[in-house]
Amino acid sequence: MELRHLKYFVAVVEEQSFTRAAEKLFIAQPPLSRQVQNLESELGIQLFERGSRPLQTTAAGHYFYKQALKILSQTEESKSMAKRVALQERTVNIGFVGSLLYGLLPRIIHLLRQQRPNIQTELVEMTASEQIQALKEGIIDVGFSRTRLSDSSIRRVLLREERLMVAVHSSHEVASMQGGVSLEQLVNESVFLYPRTNGPGYSSQVKALFTEYGLEPRHLREVREIQLALGLAAAGEGICIVPESAQMMHFRHLSYVPLLEDAAVSPIFLTMRDMDESEDIRALLDCVYQVYDLEAIRYDRVIL
Ligand code: BEZ
Repeated sequence: MELRHLKYFVAVVEEQSFTRAAEKLFIAQPPLSRQVQNLESELGIQLFERGSRPLQTTAAGHYFYKQALKILSQTEESKSMAKRVALQERTVNIGFVGSLLYGLLPRIIHLLRQQRPNIQTELVEMTASEQIQALKEGIIDVGFSRTRLSDSSIRRVLLREERLMVAVHSSHEVASMQGGVSLEQLVNESVFLYPRTNGPGYSSQVKALFTEYGLEPRHLREVREIQLALGLAAAGEGICIVPESAQMMHFRHLSYVPLLEDAAVSPIFLTMRDMDESEDIRALLDCVYQVYDLEAIRYDRVIL
């Protein structure tokens, strides 16, 4: 016996007619009659009084009707409960490169939590190449990074190009160039690069930027992460080139100066599994754009 049989039987009882029940169920009458007969033979009881007009249930039929109603309403309840549980338990695992945490990432995640309280988020710091692997293995659902890495099973969405700035001790002559400084004016400086990784990353982008203009800084030193680069710059040990959102990290005696070159930008990407139709990733992207609108940041909207 299937739920379908119970639904058919209940409709016939309530309509007191096979014809009207068939219309209500959008099926032809002969298969409906056959299904009810099959039900009777499976139960080994007669459910309807033969020849009754309008159709009447037997005592056993009436009892079975009450039970069928209970089963059907319990099934509906279980279905909607399961849906609610599924909604509550949704978790989006998000990989991100460390520098984004000092920019807009916290605001974006907070907005998502406010607007979609049913979506849980798990944030995991990882490099761009680790994010690609983690997406493939299903460890994360979405990644945020600054590196243009390609993979046939990964979709990469360019969110925006963030302008770069120089972080330098306030006593340094560059700190007074608030209108902007060119890369050429920095070649004699010690430049702290971060993060220290094996693969391609933000530090290779900064090196490539100097190379693009035919320049080579006097001294390059890689450090583990952005706070170290900024801290060392604040100590007057050298300078570092950071995305403009890093300005929110305040160090005493550290100034930020815009870089003048057009190419002095760092892309920010969202990466996800190709063909992933997740509504949650759409909601996350929508929050990114809402924050951009609030901050008057220019971007080209991508529809997932
Ligand atoms: C942004 O600064 O544009 C950004 C940071 C984290 C996630 C997405 C976008």
